[in-house]
Amino acid sequence: MATHNLLLLPGDGIGPEVMAEVKRLIEFFNKKGPNRFVYEEGLVGGASYDADKTSISDVTMEKAKAADAIIFGSVGGPKWADVPYEARPEAGLLRLRKDLDLYANLRPAVTYPALADASSLKRELVEGLDIMILRELTGGVYFGEPKTITDLGNGQKRAVDTQVYDTYEIERISRVAFELARKRNNKVTSMEKHNVMKSGVLWKEVVQQTHDREFKDVKLEHQLADSGGMQLVKNPKQFDVIVCDNLFGDMLSDIAAMLTGSLGMLASASLGEVDPKTKRRKAMYEPVHGSAPDIAGKGLANPIAMIASFGMALRYSFDMGAEADLIDKAIAATLDKGIRTADIATAGEKTVSTTEMGSAILAEMEALSA
Ligand code: NAD
Ligand code: IPM
Ligand code: MN
Repeated sequence: MATHNLLLLPGDGIGPEVMAEVKRLIEFFNKKGPNRFVYEEGLVGGASYDADKTSISDVTMEKAKAADAIIFGSVGGPKWADVPYEARPEAGLLRLRKDLDLYANLRPAVTYPALADASSLKRELVEGLDIMILRELTGGVYFGEPKTITDLGNGQKRAVDTQVYDTYEIERISRVAFELARKRNNKVTSMEKHNVMKSGVLWKEVVQQTHDREFKDVKLEHQLADSGGMQLVKNPKQFDVIVCDNLFGDMLSDIAAMLTGSLGMLASASLGEVDPKTKRRKAMYEPVHGSAPDIAGKGLANPIAMIASFGMALRYSFDMGAEADLIDKAIAATLDKGIRTADIATAGEKTVSTTEMGSAILAEMEALSA
């Protein structure tokens, strides 16, 4: 029996609504044993700004560093449109990723059999789809300096963002890509724009060298990120692992969400290196979607991305693969029964609320583990 300490950061908008369903799953696993989860909750994003005038406090950052894993909801929303840039809700999420060095963001896009018709693409293109988008998460244009807006004094301003990648950053994310591929279908597609960007030139070179040095058994393809995006909607099943920089990964994963039916389906794991003291990987689990201000507070949010992110925590942080499989099977069984939140319903289908979807998944988990 082990005790795992979690920090839950529900955040804003639909974040707390979908996190409520994770708390029910935690109760389920605590009853079932033998492992036990203990959790504390903290403020992040707009909720933290309202309380402390910062998007994440130093106290919460310390708790995040001490936790065995962080479970993150979502941040942002129109309420905070006018707060200073440094204190905007999204800055709290970026600080967590950067300060914990969570450089590898695994975003699996899996089309559940029952949802093949919920995708905006034709059934035959997405049926059986299982790809992994691996997004570099602590570098690139998100964090490069300078990052400024300067008044040029002639009625003009100049905005600068800087894309920076060092060899070690590309090397370590490449390794994660190849290692993931070895456990999947043994193929990595690296996407960049070496035809325009110096960072793309280095990216392609380092991915290739890492491959040739350590992972010759894995099939490697390079693709320009623009036509790669086109291929992702033309013939998505050609891909296994896609590895790309922070910004391309952000965009390509939201696109990939629609192959599965909805942004409300996409889970993610943000992983760092193994801590030599605790032997545990620093990790945060976060759905790919945001705070969805258009549906927040209405009980309409799909909790599956959040629930599946918790499933990834069981798999990647706690070596609880069987329990993670149980969650995935319960989601599939729920969907097979035609239970749908509004975002994954096709015309005429009856829909359920966030809590009802959570209850249905829990009921399947009870039934499957009885
Ligand atoms: P969004 O992901 O919040 O929403 C995009 C669309 O998808 C909306 O129509 C929304 O209703 C729908 N959607 C998203 N998640 C859903 C779910 N679980 N169930 C059903 N429908 C869902 O993106 P946005 O509208 O561009 O951004 C809103 C705010 O969220 C912004 O402030 C943005 O910065 C922030 N954001 C935060 C995160 C995060 O916290 N990880 C991620 C993306 C965006
Ligand atoms: C995501 C989000 C974040 C990002 C924002 C909220 C900072 O869009 O996790 O995909 O751009 O990384
Ligand atoms: Mn995004």
